[in-house]
Amino acid sequence: MWTPETLSSLASEKFEGTPLIVVSNREPYVHTKDNGVVEWSQPASGVTAGLDPILQACGGTWIAQGVGEADFEVADSQNKVAVPPDNPRYTLKRVRLSESDRKGFYDGMSNNGLWPLCHVAYTSPIFKESDWESYKKVNRIFADAILEEIKGRSAFVFIQDYHFALLARYLKLDNPSIITAQFWHIPWPDPEVLARCPWQEEILEGLLGNDLLAFHTTYYGTNFLNSVERATESRIDYDYRHIFMGGHRTSVRAFPMGVDFESINEQAKHKEVGNEVLRLKEEMGLADKFIGVGLDRLDYTKGVLERLNAIDRLLELNPEYKNRLVFLQLGAASRMQVDSYRDINDEINRLIERINIKYGNDVWTPVIRFSEDPGHTMRMATRVMADFYVVSSLHDGMNLVAKEFVASRHDEGGSLILSPFTGAADELRDAFVVNPYATDEFARTIDSAIKASPQEKRRRIISMRSVVRDNTIYKWAADLITAMTEFENQPIRVG
Ligand code: G6P
Repeated sequence: MWTPETLSSLASEKFEGTPLIVVSNREPYVHTKDNGVVEWSQPASGVTAGLDPILQACGGTWIAQGVGEADFEVADSQNKVAVPPDNPRYTLKRVRLSESDRKGFYDGMSNNGLWPLCHVAYTSPIFKESDWESYKKVNRIFADAILEEIKGRSAFVFIQDYHFALLARYLKLDNPSIITAQFWHIPWPDPEVLARCPWQEEILEGLLGNDLLAFHTTYYGTNFLNSVERATESRIDYDYRHIFMGGHRTSVRAFPMGVDFESINEQAKHKEVGNEVLRLKEEMGLADKFIGVGLDRLDYTKGVLERLNAIDRLLELNPEYKNRLVFLQLGAASRMQVDSYRDINDEINRLIERINIKYGNDVWTPVIRFSEDPGHTMRMATRVMADFYVVSSLHDGMNLVAKEFVASRHDEGGSLILSPFTGAADELRDAFVVNPYATDEFARTIDSAIKASPQEKRRRIISMRSVVRDNTIYKWAADLITAMTEFENQPIRVG
């Protein structure tokens, strides 16, 4: 069983003093100002929440975009600040981007282009040349920030996600002694879909600058190998899942990300969580209701409309739920500068209103939405009190929310309803698996999940808890560190 302590020992043994640098667009801590007073917080992001305990255990430098209004004020002359601010364990180095670079790189190429390209959710990607220019520029800015930090030495650089497809190649061309690993946290599309991207070759070549390229599932890795075969001149060893290009080898492997099971399990038992459950039940009149919960960062890939349509159908098919079932839809808005995100937000509100008008009455509101970040305690309380918890993504690299739900249920109660189009469905085989597009089946599955016997529910959650307990975030990090430190330095040839 991996713990922060055993991970820390592994890191010192494997890295042998070579620095570790983690790179992501989103920063793990943000400094803001309230009435002139500097405050700090952690953003609601699965990726940064997952990586922060790893950096706390291993030490190192995390390089990310500074977005808080006080971010650069609290940092030193190299834009560095020790974090967590209340108990420093590692260094956060912030990169400053101009508004136009940020827009083209993040709103544009990353979220209007690559995000919909990689997720089958029927939102068309938009590829603009000006966004691509910003994307290349920002990848270069990050490469320079990393190179400045490394100062010509060797280092392990662990890159996160689709914001930085070109970074590894830039780094290797400048300093071949760097070992790079990149985790692509979202799905990888099949070659025909990837071909919609006008810059697919540059993106593939950029990613092939890595020594290790990691995905949540083997399937996404296979899509990547097939994409490389279709679009580049390279040699692929399908048995070992190695790609050879320009004399350099990239190993493509799956590392399903986990959560901090023990910590979530313990936090769910806290008295303040119990009090929050009582408060929510009291304030919303939930004491005698079947409670359904959905918690998502607002995104059209999460299948929220499909889930609400299933609730509508459930109420239509089963009048016995009248006055007896309430569905709580929680989660903060995100990426609201992007049109498709504003549209989905409005559509969700309209659909909830329609359902509530159709079925609700003076004493019963069937669907309640919270569109602010619910915060830690409420998030935990809603997991603990849910009779059924719905994760209905249309496409999702992993979905850690499903694993967090399972880890919270120390009472061995509650049912998880899970889309097969999530990476998590590969592991959580005992969930009630449902196709979010099949509304009738979805409604029937919610009904079965509510009506399943207590023994059946218990059997399922116990089995899923053992999976989530065995494959924690610390194990994920230990496996990645072990894989990353196996590589010899391999130069990359230009051309
Ligand atoms: C989700 C995805 C991650 C991605 C993150 C970025 O969590 O699963 O792959 O890195 O979004 O979110 P942001 O809020 O920074 O755009």
